[in-house]
Amino acid sequence: MRHFFGFTKEPFSPDIKLDELYHSAALEGVKERFLYAVSLGAISVITGDVGSGKSTALRYASGGLHPSQYHVIPVIASTGSVIEVFKQICIALDINWNSTSLTRLMHTIRETVAEIAKRRQVPVLIIDEASLLRIEVFAQLHTLGQFEMDSKPVLPIILAGQNNLLDKLMYITSRPLASRIIGRSHLEGLRRKDMAGYLKHHLGIAGIKEQLFSDEAVLAIHQGSGGLLRRANLLAKGSLVAAAREKCTVVSAEHVRMASTEIF
Ligand SMILES: Nc1ncnc2c1ncn2[C@@H]1O[C@H](COP(=O)(O)OP(=O)(O)OP(=O)(O)O)[C@@H](O)[C@H]1O
Ligand SMILES: [Mg+2]
Repeated sequence: MRHFFGFTKEPFSPDIKLDELYHSAALEGVKERFLYAVSLGAISVITGDVGSGKSTALRYASGGLHPSQYHVIPVIASTGSVIEVFKQICIALDINWNSTSLTRLMHTIRETVAEIAKRRQVPVLIIDEASLLRIEVFAQLHTLGQFEMDSKPVLPIILAGQNNLLDKLMYITSRPLASRIIGRSHLEGLRRKDMAGYLKHHLGIAGIKEQLFSDEAVLAIHQGSGGLLRRANLLAKGSLVAAAREKCTVVSAEHVRMASTEIF
């Protein structure tokens, strides 16, 4: 397929570089809210369906934080206990813990957060897949950046996850955390009118300037993916393979249909 169309690299590849991203209003909105929460030491929440671009948006937004001024603490959430999650935070902070007591772990993390702040860096805790976290974790998370003497929290937190993250934040025990949220972004699927541009953008990254997808193929990819980017990418790539197999230089809706039988 690569040779047939003359791509210079694999099209629709998942490991897209930051400077090659498709810039949607939603992507910029996430970055804006992310940076606003960071500037205030507050919390921002990003939700969206599977494959809507949450992790990529996190990567893009945190790319706006200069390493000399910010210390990013990236965590991929698990369904583990509070202790497990706090251990993950220790790993992300590159610190050793020598206790399995929750109090000691919290103390160690808080000390490190305070040290980072003393170095005049802003620590930023970024938790992807936060919808997996247990309710108990939400009850404790905000205390990591709260210091008795200081009313301003020093640890901004960004939470990204599927839509049920919001349900978990509504629990009464999550209220102290939820009350610190100052920005909420929701990533929806791409609109129909943006899909052609999105596909063309990906073709361009792989070295092809022309639109290889017919209008019907664009529509079929939009309908088959609900505008969700990972699924759209899989359909696009699969349909390019199907078109190349038939030596067609333009992808048709039938090629998209063939691709859709291969994916979930
Ligand atoms: N702005 C963008 N421009 C181009 N491609 C993108 C963009 N955002 C996401 N993608 C592509 O879409 C795919 C899905 O994105 P991503 O993994 O960020 O979604 P997600 O919402 O985090 O998914 P999950 O719910 O599985 O965690 C990736 O392959 C990524 O390369
Ligand atoms: Mg993700």
